Amino acid sequence: MDPRTAAFEVIRMVNEYRVSQAISVAAMLGIADHIKDGKRSAVDLASLTGTHPRALYRLLRALAAAGIFHEAEDGQFSLTPLGGALRSDAEHSAAPWAAFVGRPYYRQAWSDLLYSIQCGRNAFRHAHGKGVWEYRAEHPEESGIFDLAMAANSRGVAAAILAAYDFSRFPVIMDVGGGQGALLAEILAANPRSRGILFDQPHVVAAAGRVMAEKGVAERCDIVGGDFLAALPSAADALLLKWILHDWDDETNISILKNCRKAMRADGKLLVFEAVLAPPNEGATAKFADLNMLVAPGGEERTAEEFRSLLAKGGFEVADIIEAGPRISVIEARPV
Ligand SMILES: C[S@@+](CC[C@H](N)C(=O)[O-])C[C@H]1O[C@@H](n2cnc3c(N)ncnc32)[C@H](O)[C@@H]1O
Repeated sequence: MDPRTAAFEVIRMVNEYRVSQAISVAAMLGIADHIKDGKRSAVDLASLTGTHPRALYRLLRALAAAGIFHEAEDGQFSLTPLGGALRSDAEHSAAPWAAFVGRPYYRQAWSDLLYSIQCGRNAFRHAHGKGVWEYRAEHPEESGIFDLAMAANSRGVAAAILAAYDFSRFPVIMDVGGGQGALLAEILAANPRSRGILFDQPHVVAAAGRVMAEKGVAERCDIVGGDFLAALPSAADALLLKWILHDWDDETNISILKNCRKAMRADGKLLVFEAVLAPPNEGATAKFADLNMLVAPGGEERTAEEFRSLLAKGGFEVADIIEAGPRISVIEARPV
């Protein structure tokens, strides 16, 4: 590649944050839902979304040039296949994640990435004076937006997890830090003889009853609010930890794992769902997720070896690591 092309390419990559924020704003405004049944002008959309008509037009034409919407000759906007993923009723809607990623409080942590790189500490805490979970507990709107993003992501990978792992042998499955219960609801729906326990912070599980009812599994699932750093309800046959260990440092994870060990039957299984870091020069998604862990919750993504070592310190032996999809592996462990 010649030096000028290389410079253009790097500048294009650097400027991608603008595309990200523009998509996020379109998701926050629910533009895709407003044009799912037919095209509309920016003026109509501005009146439906309470926004400035000319500014909204500029957002929409930029996103049309990026392939998210289509701008017709008459200035009306419709959905492209990419934009269809921003519909709230899309089969795998990207809207909740897109809306979350652009939230100013969260972007602020990313803006402070240099701080984390210089000192190794958590940029979110530096920017806000508290950790992400404390911040969200104090800001219910942000907590709700984050929880919906997690639920959408969990639904997106649930089919791959169900295809990769057989849960039917477990009478009681507890999802520890299971958010609003999206993954557990899918697992219970696919395994009618299993019962579930959903465990997360009280303000997060408050929305779980509806999620369970929508999948028809409410009667087979107990919903428990609490603190996994303190104690868990006991006697589950399988404990799930999805996107939990990557949020924390090793020391905190060892406390969580010890609490899991106490809560599980002797022949139980711990199932960790995380991205496993790829060898050098591969797996950019997980390696950028790792930077996200550094700046936002203060954790890290890990290699298979790092998971084995961490789980051993928490009293578990890894029995198997199954790659369920590009973003998710199932790490099966047993208590030792
Ligand atoms: C990255 S999210 C993952 C949610 C869910 N497992 C999923 O994959 O969709 C981490 C979850 O940990 C929960 N969490 C954080 N601190 C917690 C604590 N001390 N006790 C219980 N849950 C906690 C959060 O509320 C959040 O739902």
